[in-house]
Amino acid sequence: MDFSDEIYRLKRKKNCIILSHFYQTSDIQNIADFVGDSLQLSQIAAETEADIILFCGVNFMAETAKILSPDKKVLLPEPEAGCSLADSCSVDDLKEFLKNYPDHTVVSYVNTSVGVKALTDICCTSSNAVKIIESLPENEKIVFLPDRNLGSYIKSVTKRNDMIIWDGACHVHEEFSVEKIIELKKKYTDAKVLAHPECKKTVLILADMIGSTAALLEFSKKDECMRFIVATESGILHQMQMSSPQKTFIPAPPVDSTCGCNDCKYMKMITLEKVYNTLKNESPEVLIDIELIKKAKKSILRMFEISK
Ligand code: 13P
Ligand code: SF4
Repeated sequence: MDFSDEIYRLKRKKNCIILSHFYQTSDIQNIADFVGDSLQLSQIAAETEADIILFCGVNFMAETAKILSPDKKVLLPEPEAGCSLADSCSVDDLKEFLKNYPDHTVVSYVNTSVGVKALTDICCTSSNAVKIIESLPENEKIVFLPDRNLGSYIKSVTKRNDMIIWDGACHVHEEFSVEKIIELKKKYTDAKVLAHPECKKTVLILADMIGSTAALLEFSKKDECMRFIVATESGILHQMQMSSPQKTFIPAPPVDSTCGCNDCKYMKMITLEKVYNTLKNESPEVLIDIELIKKAKKSILRMFEISK
């Protein structure tokens, strides 16, 4: 069966919008109505007039869509598509942790569960994290979670002293090899390094541009450089290559070249066959308790308000 044709037919019939994160495989990106970073996808999920949102991404992204559009049916083709970063901060551990910081404002990266968002004052994504922190008074005491690399990057850019950072990380972005990136830079002296702020500081130091997936893509389109070493999940290379077919994009290698770690194993769980079955059966559906939605939503709406 040609899954793509069937998916097109069903999504029109059911008034469904398919959203895909940049880290999805190219076949999934190609059938999506919109491909974007986590901020862009959450904004579309909040505004869409479709009856069904089919989310090709990971659990926290589909949950965010449901929080923002609770009356819509939100489908996630693979409920096991989690996120090692979101998993590094559980609700119970965070509750215990926050007892030590009762007068702190909690800023959470959107890569968190709905329960963690309910304990959060303001959410952020990699696109707007600096803006969110800069919107707070200079002497504000802040707890930032869950990513230690993004946290310390923002702390250094915004020069905030009173920022406590949760010790979490993403298994993909932690694994890029500094030595191998330096070797590539020596081999291709014309290349620029693009890095996501979830990478370690030792990788970020080598970067010509640090930004969210959408920001890295825009930079690769506009910059005159013809060769880029890309230190983020490899799915983004599909859009980069499509936008700039004349340019060369080299995925930054992980420390262990046999591990395939620059692929996010959770993102790659979504397949065309699963998308087709999900759309046909309208299941698996993301369901969240409405009281939890109300608590979690405030932190996302505050993010939208600040990043307008
Ligand atoms: P973006 O905010 O760039 O979409 O990144 C999301 C993510 O999961 C990074 O690993
Ligand atoms: Fe989570 Fe990392 Fe995968 Fe992004 S790349 S979804 S942070 S595990």
